[in-house]
Formats: sequence, structure tokens, C-alpha cells
Amino acid sequence: MTDFELRPIEIHEINAFASCQAAAFGGRYTPDKLESLAEELQLDRSLAFFDSGDLVATTSSYVVPMTLPGLVRCKVAAVTDVSVAPTHRRRGMLTSMMRRQLDDLRSANEPLAVLFASEGGIYGRYGYGPATFGARYVVDKRPARLLTPVATPTDSSPGCGSGSVRLVELDQAAEAFPAVYGAYVPTRVGELDRPHGEWAELLGNPNGAGEDARHRFYVCYEQAGRIEGYAVYRVAAVDPADHWRRAVFLEEMCSLGDESYTSLWRYLLGIDLTEELRTRSRPVDEPLRYLLEDQRHLRMASWGDRTWVRLVDVAQALARRRYEEEATLVIEVEDPFCPWNDGRFRLSVDRGGVGTVERVNAAPDLALPVEALGAVYLGGVPFAGMAEVGRIAECTEGAARRADRMFSVRRPPFCTTNF
Ligand SMILES: CC(C)(COP(=O)(O)OP(=O)(O)OC[C@H]1O[C@@H](n2cnc3c(N)ncnc32)[C@H](O)[C@@H]1OP(=O)(O)O)[C@@H](O)C(=O)NCCC(=O)NCCS
Repeated sequence: MTDFELRPIEIHEINAFASCQAAAFGGRYTPDKLESLAEELQLDRSLAFFDSGDLVATTSSYVVPMTLPGLVRCKVAAVTDVSVAPTHRRRGMLTSMMRRQLDDLRSANEPLAVLFASEGGIYGRYGYGPATFGARYVVDKRPARLLTPVATPTDSSPGCGSGSVRLVELDQAAEAFPAVYGAYVPTRVGELDRPHGEWAELLGNPNGAGEDARHRFYVCYEQAGRIEGYAVYRVAAVDPADHWRRAVFLEEMCSLGDESYTSLWRYLLGIDLTEELRTRSRPVDEPLRYLLEDQRHLRMASWGDRTWVRLVDVAQALARRRYEEEATLVIEVEDPFCPWNDGRFRLSVDRGGVGTVERVNAAPDLALPVEALGAVYLGGVPFAGMAEVGRIAECTEGAARRADRMFSVRRPPFCTTNF
């Protein structure tokens, strides 16, 4: 590795940075995407390897607020743009970049890092664990019937709500939807604020090329003049040979309340001339299934990990989130990649759910590698399940169950925005 130089890029190297990624992922950068990359890349956080002046590997990160258990917001490092040119793979470049990046995050006092992994076998060695999960759903629309909501004693028109669903144009969507999303993000553990460039990607550009030009529809739920939810979708053939076999492809749906949620699903499942509805990754506990008269008309087409979490500084990260039960737990952490985290920590949670963390020599209740701690950190992965298969060692009987009660969250964590 001594022949290669690893350093932050300079402004004139952004195109080379983009080309390296394009080559690694087998894709291409459109002028639009290049423009938004140039706008959003923070040069001092964008690392690259150079081989005799040629840029051959990349990674970057940006600081973004994430919603932690207890619905507290914490700035985390979102790691992205990881690529190594096909000509330079398996020479340790990724490991060197991860080393430098985690050292930088530690120096900047950033206790948590998150990323999306292209493959599941890469990031555990650097201390990241899969912490949020999502599912793609398919609804067989034609036979699907929706149940009528139960009336509450004070409600004479159950589930109808006083709001309405309406289609809007791209410019209205671009103006209104980010505020809805911004109000939703602090209500769900794991969610991150969305960078500006990602909005352009989601909403599409009708004048763009390829995928971008595919017409998207924008629909919102409005009540008392306030937009409380939206959906972005396309209608396209499921079988290119048969124009009339069409489906609704849901790009994203976001809602701030139950009526908005139900009304948007009713709308989407009621679109004529389509036989299926296919979603992108959505929360694994999607309540939609309970709205269906026959739940078998909804199936999970795939299930997979979304964000991976890395505790850069274990003590600080544990103190940032809130907990569900007043209790104490001593954990022994093993972190060969970031040995500053090695050791035993006592987590003492008070009545208000606030945790205090101190280094101790006391006997541990649980022992675990840091990537397992990353996985359980947001409350979406059970300590007990990890202990059952030996990923976490239970040193005190009942400690895994106690930890699960302390770390539990109301709904599984999720991250809508890809980065
Ligand atoms: C994945 C990628 C970044 C790895 O880069 P690299 O420089 O070849 O990785 P390194 O040489 O530093 O390998 C480090 C370790 O990871 C392992 N590894 C690398 N790629 C791996 C993969 N795809 N799956 C599993 N293990 C992998 C190596 O075998 C090595 O293991 P070791 O520590 O036990 O020796 C590179 O292959 C790439 O750019 N792939 C395409 C784009 C991509 O997937 N990027 C990741 C985006 S999240």
C-alpha cells in the first residue's frame, strides 16, 4: 500500500471521484447526478486513493441528524461513495480507507456512523452491524378488498376523515413533500434527514433521460389546508409484451397520521387498469396488511438489511439514545478494528430513560463484538436472538432479556432514504 497515496480530494478531482464509482458499480453518472454530487460532496470528508496520480478508490461521509430510540436526534456520519476501481481490488484499499475514516470520525468526536452495504459480507470486519431492515411488498390488487375501519364511540363517520387525496404537479410536490418528510423523520427510529440531491432523485426530472423521464405521479392527502401525507408512484407494464398488464410502482409513501396513511393506501389500491401494486423497501411492520380483508393478497417479495450502524465511540453512543426500562447492565465490548472501544461499560438507566455510561472492571452481564452492538443499538435486533445463536455471550442469566427490555422500541427502526 505504500506506493499509493490516500488523501481528501480537491475540487478539480470530483469528476474522477465520480468516474471511479461509476466503474466500480458498473453504472454511469448523468450530468444531473454529477452536478448534485459536486454540490453535496464535502471535500475534507471525501477520501480517495491515487495510483501515480490516477484516482482509484473513494469514500466520503456527511453529517446528518438521525432519530435514535427515545426519539432523540443525533448527528451521525453517513458513510457513502465506497468504491475501489476493478483494477485495484483486493489490495487492502477499502481497509485503509475505513481505517482513516473511522480515525477521522473519532477525532471529530462523531460517535456513530451508518451506511448501506452493497453486499452483506463486507462491513462486519470494520465494526458495522445491520440495524434496520425493510421489505418490498406486492399487493394483488384485483381481488384485494379493504376493510372498513371500526367506529370510535365519538366518531360518526369512521375512517373517512375530513381530508382528501389530490394529485399535484412536480413543482408542487417539490415544494410540499420535503416538509412532510421532515415532520415524519423525528417520529421513527433510524430515519435520517434527506439531502437535497436525493429529492431530485425521488421526484424525477420529466425532461431527463432514461429512468428519470418515466412519468411519476404525485399525490397528497390534505386536511384543513395542511398536507399530511404523500405518495410518489409510476404506472408501468409488468410484462413488456402486454401493454394492459400494468402495475402501480410505489416509489415512496409518507404520512403523518392514520387517516392520511389509510386514505393514501385506499387511493393507490384503487387505481384502475393495474393488476398489482409493487413497493420499494418499506418498514417490515407495514400496517397495510391489517387493512386487507384477505391478508394473503399482500406478500413480502423480499426482505433485507438497510442501514448498518457502527459505534465509533461506544460510551458516547450508548449515552446518546434513550432506554425503555430503569436498569443496569455491564457489557464487555470487543473491537479489534477500533481498540479504543475495548473494555467493560456499565450502562445505568434512570427512570426517565436516560443512560449514564462508565468504564468499569466489574464482571460483565453480556459480552459482544462491536458489530453486534451496532446491530442491536437501534432496538431492531434482539439481544436474546443474538445470544441464542452465540453472537452475544450471556454471562448473567436473564441479561439478554433485560437488555431487550431496556433497548426496545415501539416500532422497528427504519431508514427510508438510500444514500
Ligand atoms: C467492495 C470493495 C469496496 C472492496 O474493496 P477492496 O479494496 O477490494 O477491499 P480490501 O482489499 O480492502 O478487502 C478487505 C477485506 O474485505 C474482503 N472483501 C472485499 N470485498 C468483499 C466482498 N464484496 N464481499 C466479501 N468480502 C469482501 C476482502 O477479502 C478482505 O478480507 P480480509 O480482511 O479478510 O483480508 C470493492 O470490491 C468495490 O468497489 N466493489 C464494488 C462497489 C461496492 O460494492 N462498493 C461498496 C459500496 S457499499
